[in-house]
Amino acid sequence: MVLIFFVVLAFVVPEASATISGEFNCTTFNGTAFVYTPAAVACSNAISDASCQVLYPASNTLYPAAGNDADRPFACFTTATDTPAPVVPDMKTAALKTCPKTCGLCCKTEAYDCPNVQFPRLNCQTITNAQCQSSQWRTIIAQDCPSACGFCNQGGCVDGVVDCANDPSICMTVGMQDFVNQYCQRTCARCPSTTGAPSASATSPSSSNTGGSCTSYIADSSSVCASWATNGFCSNTFYTIAQRKAYCATTCKLC
Ligand SMILES: *[C@@H]1O[C@H](CO)[C@@H](O)[C@H](O)[C@H]1NC(C)=O
Ligand SMILES: *[C@@H]1O[C@H](CO)[C@@H](O)[C@H](O)[C@H]1NC(C)=O
Repeated sequence: MVLIFFVVLAFVVPEASATISGEFNCTTFNGTAFVYTPAAVACSNAISDASCQVLYPASNTLYPAAGNDADRPFACFTTATDTPAPVVPDMKTAALKTCPKTCGLCCKTEAYDCPNVQFPRLNCQTITNAQCQSSQWRTIIAQDCPSACGFCNQGGCVDGVVDCANDPSICMTVGMQDFVNQYCQRTCARCPSTTGAPSASATSPSSSNTGGSCTSYIADSSSVCASWATNGFCSNTFYTIAQRKAYCATTCKLC
């Protein structure tokens, strides 16, 4: 049955004027075709978009966009100029450094290339750019689906609104405390210390949240804390502080 489906597909697909070929990272199968995920084009190019379009001319008029199946410009991943085009790693590396958006390769850049938690509260594949900007979504996404919005280097700790850092003095303003506690957690170092940017929270005053002068922790009772932590065990609010402490006090830095 499945086989028949793919055989049928094989006859249907080549008719389309463009399909993604060769390099399938940052794509997802929508039921009929491979299409780009929102994260494929969520980053910025390192040089201007216009320059990227000169360096990486579209292979078939359309450029990669979320949900479409335009083939990538060939130079994004291969030295060939027509299909079949074998992936040439050097070409991909160069494209990632200069024009990841034009090439639909954003999901492979550093900020977007990290594991999401094992059981995210939402579908990481379908998160839109609007959600990445939304104060209602950002905190949850940073914890569960960091790869969807380029939050990989944030350690699960983001500002709920995007412009807090425009005026960091609000962190100290008396009348703004409720606001910054909710919306400027990163800029004002208000993330629960179990999430916090790992290096920043170790030195910032906010690490006093969990008990001040604590410098040593009870040993982890589980041997797999490192991989649990990678999956969000220390930051996902699905687990209680007591649970984290019982299993992974050292890894989660809880005392
Ligand atoms: C994704 O990229 C990696 C290297 O960056 C490569 O090894 C892998 O085959 C690619 N996966 C797909 C599905 O194209
Ligand atoms: C999948 O994507 C292709 C190309 O964009 C589109 O033509 C098709 O309608 C989509 N199929 C579904 C089920 O969304």
